[in-house]
Amino acid sequence: MTVNDVLTVHGGTPLHGRIRVRGAKNLVSKAMVAALLGDAPSRLYDVPRIRDVEVVRGLLELHGVRVSDGAEDGELVLDPANVASANSDEINVHAGSSRIPILLCGPLLHRLGHAFIPDLGGCHIGPRPIDFHIQALREFGAVVDKAADGMHLTAPNGLHGTKLELPYPSVGATEQVLLTAVMANGVTELRNAAVEPEIIDLICVLQKMGAIIKVHTDRVIEIQGVPRLGGYTHRPIPDRIEAASWAAAALATGGDIEVLGAEQVDMMTFLNVFRSVGGAYEVTDMRPPRNGSPGQEGKIRFWHPGGELKAVALETDVHPGFMTDWQQPLVVALTQARGLSIVHETVYEQRLGYTEALNSMGATIQVYRDCLGGTPCRFGRRDFKHSAVIAGPSKLHAADLVIPDLRAGFSHLIAALAAEGTSRVYGVDLINRGYEDFEAKLAALGAHAERA
Ligand code: EPU
Repeated sequence: MTVNDVLTVHGGTPLHGRIRVRGAKNLVSKAMVAALLGDAPSRLYDVPRIRDVEVVRGLLELHGVRVSDGAEDGELVLDPANVASANSDEINVHAGSSRIPILLCGPLLHRLGHAFIPDLGGCHIGPRPIDFHIQALREFGAVVDKAADGMHLTAPNGLHGTKLELPYPSVGATEQVLLTAVMANGVTELRNAAVEPEIIDLICVLQKMGAIIKVHTDRVIEIQGVPRLGGYTHRPIPDRIEAASWAAAALATGGDIEVLGAEQVDMMTFLNVFRSVGGAYEVTDMRPPRNGSPGQEGKIRFWHPGGELKAVALETDVHPGFMTDWQQPLVVALTQARGLSIVHETVYEQRLGYTEALNSMGATIQVYRDCLGGTPCRFGRRDFKHSAVIAGPSKLHAADLVIPDLRAGFSHLIAALAAEGTSRVYGVDLINRGYEDFEAKLAALGAHAERA
């Protein structure tokens, strides 16, 4: 953390105005990796300027992919014509900075016959193991050696299709299987796959490149390997996590925010909860220009309609459930709801640590080891504090806060904006990992915040 990595936030002002979200971080970074598999350039639009994109760009460039900015703002052109091995010391510069490098395994094995993956980073929200990834890669025929500096992989007999069943519908492991199976020899059947919209969008990207992928019912995905893939041109789905974060900010501060680019279809579960809490929203669908009449950008306006917010019970889950990444920002708004709200976190075992900071600001949140949701989850038996009861409404007051991870970080920021008084939020640079230009957006919404 640098001296300048602090935001002074003068809270108590409702956020009002409009901001725009671009392509989903959790699709864009994977689509960039997919470009490695092609034998022609790929073009990706609406790429946000965030640190995760910079990390993936750096890693791809180290492996010989030429990445350049296209003519349109946010357009990236990725040319994999000269893919080559990279020096492991150079790769290790990116160690600890993101979870994405693990997804380079399959594409690098296909392109080069070997891969080196540095130690992973990402948010500290639990142990975040990679056992599903390694198991899947081994079943494709990869030889995986774990060393002190990272992971070395080879595929002496090539990669071949296989039948797999994930112990849990992991997003990353599903992506690993997709990115490996598309060019493996033969057919792969993946059971208990994750089917998040970002995964379906990645499947669209791969299909544009020439892949043959069938999404069956009941979380079964079948991939028929093909010998070569080309490039793609793709406009990603919008970032539904960022959109929900601003929605929560509108509710918690008693404000009114129009999120340009947000789409209803992938946010339906969030919208249901938002309405149940007492928030209001209005969806405007995107309309392409037609017969001389101009088109219209899609957007969702989120606001606090006045009156009291209502407590809710919610459980995070894999898609189509309530996303774990929506949880932290929304909990700040739940501190303002009358009654007892219950949040059962079933995706990550340690994603409620940030509630301590909210308590230091006057919230009343108690965390429990028990599964307080309707369904017992895999963490209940393992002694993790993964359920929270939020008693409200609580008047939040200013505090000094240290940002622990990306989404919790944004929730700290919302809390500081909602609180009376001046808070200092340390480690805000972490928010740049996933929220483009968040300081400019805060300013556009009338927030009073400045560096240091
Ligand atoms: N898991 C294992 N073993 C594995 C892989 C996962 O046990 O090999 C467990 C995890 O520990 C976790 C659960 O499975 O308890 C789900 O993890 P998943 O693999 O689905 O998460 P991920 O792919 O690492 C992505 C997003 C996360 C998002 C989750 C869930 C990216 C880069 N990250 O992580 O986003 O929370 O899916 O939707 O796509 C964020 O954007 O801030 C973020 C953390």
